[in-house]
Formats: sequence, C-alpha cells, structure tokens
Amino acid sequence: MVKNRYELIQKLEAEHRLSAEEYQTILDERDDALTKAAAQRAEELCRKTYGNQVFIRGLIEVSNYCKNNCYYCGIRCGNQKAERYRLTGEEILDSCEAGWQLGFRTFVLQGGEDPWYRGTHAGRVTELVKKIKKAYPQCAVTLSLGEYEEADYQAFRAAGADRYLLRHETADAVHYGKLHPAELNLEHRKQCLYTLKKLGFQTGSGFMVGSPGQTNAHLAKDLVFLQELQPEMVGIGPFIPHQDTPLGDQAAGSVELTLFLVSLIRIMLPHALIPATTALGTLMESGREKAMLCGANVIMPNLSPTDVRKKYTLYDNKLCTGDEAAESLRHLTERMAAIGREVVCARGDFT
Ligand code: 5AD
Repeated sequence: MVKNRYELIQKLEAEHRLSAEEYQTILDERDDALTKAAAQRAEELCRKTYGNQVFIRGLIEVSNYCKNNCYYCGIRCGNQKAERYRLTGEEILDSCEAGWQLGFRTFVLQGGEDPWYRGTHAGRVTELVKKIKKAYPQCAVTLSLGEYEEADYQAFRAAGADRYLLRHETADAVHYGKLHPAELNLEHRKQCLYTLKKLGFQTGSGFMVGSPGQTNAHLAKDLVFLQELQPEMVGIGPFIPHQDTPLGDQAAGSVELTLFLVSLIRIMLPHALIPATTALGTLMESGREKAMLCGANVIMPNLSPTDVRKKYTLYDNKLCTGDEAAESLRHLTERMAAIGREVVCARGDFT
C-alpha cells in the first residue's frame, strides 16, 4: 500500500532511508501540519544525541581568490568587481588566537579554490594546519577549500586536519551543469567526498535550496545522496542571488523549504552535525533559532579579520556583523538560551 506523508516520515525515522520517490512525495505534499510534525521529531532526535547543546565553529575566510567560475557565487573568478584578498599565515593564526580567547575549539578555514594553495603549493595548507594544531592541540581544524587530489587530502589529514566541508551543491548531474561551468562535474565532487570519508575526515556535504531551476525531484536526489554518503556534517542554505553573477537576477530560495529540509536531514541522520547557516540568517532574522527548532545544532560565527569580512561576499547582503560575528558570542548565547539551548565551549565532534 502507498504510504501517506506522515507514515513516510515515520519510516524515515525507523529506517533512516527512503527512495527518491518517497522523498519527493513528502516534499510535494508538504503543508504546515507536516512541517510542524517533522520539526518536532527532528528536534527530539537532536536532543536524544546532543542534549540541548549548540556547538560553535570559528569561521576564518582565508582567501576569496578562486579559479572556478560557478554561476551563483560572488567570488567566481569571472567577477572582476570582487576585491580579492588572501590572509597571511600570521593573520590566520591571530584569528585562531582571538577565537581561542572567545572560547572556540573548532577553527574552520574556508576559501575559494585559490591557486596559492593548490597543486605544487598544497603544502602551504599542510604547513598551516600543522601550525594551528601545534598552537591549539585541543582544537579541531576543519578545512573547506574545495576539490583536491587524494594525495593532498591525505597530507592535510596527516598534518592533523580533523574535518572537511565540501558541499555537493546538487546531486542531479544536469542541474549541476546549469550551476557550474563544464570544468566542474558532479561525479568528481562525489568522488572527493567519498575520498574524504575514506581518509577518516569527519566529512560535511550539503546543497543550496532553491537554486534556479531546482525541483523537488532534484531535492529528493540530494536526500538520497546524503543517505548514501552518510556525512558527519550537513550544511544547507537557501540560494541567494549575487548581483555580479550570471544568476544575479534570479529569485532567492525559500527559507521555509530549507527549514523543512533541515528537519528531514536530522531525521535521516540523527547524529549529524547540522549548522544553522549564514544564508538562512541572512534571509530571515530569526533563521538561526528556527533552524535549531528543526534539529540544527551548530553555529559558525565569523572569525575573519573584520576588514576582509565584507569582501567574502558569496551572495548579496551576506551577514558578517551582528550575531554573525564571533565577537558577539554573548548575545548569541542569550538568543540560544531563549529557545532552551546552551552554547558550549567544546570541539563538538560527531558522536
Ligand atoms: N547563495 C547561497 N549559497 C551560496 N554559496 C555560494 N554562493 C551562494 C549563493 N549565491 C554556498 C555554496 C558553497 C558555500 C560555501 O556557500 O553552497 O558551498
């Protein structure tokens, strides 16, 4: 017998997997009551593993140089208006020190696919990781620097990197092709993710919600891919247009749909680390709290030197001040306390 959408969510909770058709049914038949039911289950499951804890990650945007030309992204190489910067090793270590003092125990080094760090220069990443791990042995280091060769990933891991974030962006190859130039392809992206898992990284993937042309069938594929990959971390956020990109005149993705997907991902992967992303916070003032109430348990405030934050504009109006800034941790802590969550000073590993 064909299951109704509530039964499908129960099945997801019991078996942690559904078919693409089943996911699509849930998405097609989403309404307020289903949204509420899913969020309740998601939050309960999150509490079962992680209690009321919210983990924080200090995000350091190390470089906005990028060799890629993704159609949605503000730091694409074709955007001549982007003001480029690259932090020095010293600036990165200073950011870590500031983060350490504030209570951060995870540092995330994120950047474009900057040639400075690639190919024969991949050793620069390795050296950086070693320095950070030496200065802060109790801290986790997460890298988010795009696609590399397996040998490079292996060297990063050997240097002490604990985690790697690499969103797949969309699990539909044709849709992937509409968001990326021909040099990039979904198969290679997936291969990188499986390699990262194999090397023992806590691996993060994720996708944009509401990217131009995306359908529920595409989203169903994203969910099936996540259940196959079994990532330790999943970051999703609404697509937000950036004016100086080819997709600059397209509509933004839906916050509500993003939140519903956070709930489904939590029910699928009860132990995952799921951030309330900056893109959600950018489109909706209460986006972070809402994500927590759908089973998110991570926040990634910005630890970059303040003078470069404005230059890391992946999309228009990207938040980098207010509660997005690492410095306002106290206010963020209060906001989380107001919804019964406790911001903790811990590495916050996958358990
Ligand atoms: N809107 C929303 N998210 C974006 N990203 C890049 N550009 C945009 C945009 N225009 C996301 C991608 C990438 C992450 C670092 O930022 O999903 O993986």
